Amino acid sequence: MIILAIETSCDETSIAILKNQKVLSNITVSQILEQQKYGGVVPSLAAKLHLETIQKVLKKVFSETKIKPTEIDYIAYTEEPGLVICLQIGKAIAETLSLYLNKPLIPCNHLMGHIYASLIDSQKDWHFPALALIISGGHTQIYKLEKHLEFTLLGQTLDDAVGECLDKTAILLGYLYPGGPVIEKLALNGKKKYFFTLPKNDNSLDFSFSGLKSEIARLVAKEEKIAVSNLAYSLQSTIAEILKIKLKNTWEKTNAQTIIIGGGVIANNFLRNYLVASIKKWDNKINIHIPNQEYCTDNAAMIGILADYKVRLG
Ligand code: KG4
Ligand code: ZN
Repeated sequence: MIILAIETSCDETSIAILKNQKVLSNITVSQILEQQKYGGVVPSLAAKLHLETIQKVLKKVFSETKIKPTEIDYIAYTEEPGLVICLQIGKAIAETLSLYLNKPLIPCNHLMGHIYASLIDSQKDWHFPALALIISGGHTQIYKLEKHLEFTLLGQTLDDAVGECLDKTAILLGYLYPGGPVIEKLALNGKKKYFFTLPKNDNSLDFSFSGLKSEIARLVAKEEKIAVSNLAYSLQSTIAEILKIKLKNTWEKTNAQTIIIGGGVIANNFLRNYLVASIKKWDNKINIHIPNQEYCTDNAAMIGILADYKVRLG
């Protein structure tokens, strides 16, 4: 089965071709350089850049894979959530291809895509029940899955997402968007010297990150000379700790056999290592699925693998 997948939900124009769950090509053009001067993503600029780029990306996946358009079996695209004007561009291209090639369309959910990214190049399938934690720029959510494609929301952030907290802190410190990779790099030379309140450290499965961001803003305003590396390390470790606590609470409530973590923030090596080591300590029989780093931030391959499961499971 050959699937062409399109992802345009935010500031990455990405198209992939997968054959029997193997990624043959996954081309992503990021708008980071253009968006950086605005300190975040401007939707109208994002849409304009998607339109300028998408045909070149489409051409490139076909030339890279040598797959002919007529060989494609399904056309998948990100339907939601995301910036509406950006989603519409991916949808319009997908619908046009579907019409002219006479191939079925598969609308996909972006967040599910982040979770299914962990099945790309994976030797094992998930064991159910499974837990899925999504940590991205726009979302922080925990789901339970009793079986494939059946997501039940158990908890989510009541305000900012984890990625948003990293992005806003980096800007506050004078760095450019996106903040996650900046904080990770700074933290490499840092130590835990600042002790922040663990946000929403209660029995609920919900999260909150706006207070943490405000606590940092107050600290930066108060201290004359802030040690940014130590601040970055302290922030990263506070986030790691609260994610671990919430995951553990959820795991204890659900007895999940598999824990999946997806979304751009899990590209962070410190978080990956910390969360994997913590989960193994609770029970080393838990199956841990985290996407390879190249499939953590937004990409079309994750939409392609999700579409593959949707087709196979009917
Ligand atoms: O999943 P994603 O690409 O887009 C959304 O669906 O939101 O996630 C983007 C988020 C941004 O907040 C970015 O700062 C964060 O992922 N991010 C990281 C890293 N790379 C990207 N956060 C921490 N460490 C990283 N290495
Ligand atoms: Zn995303």
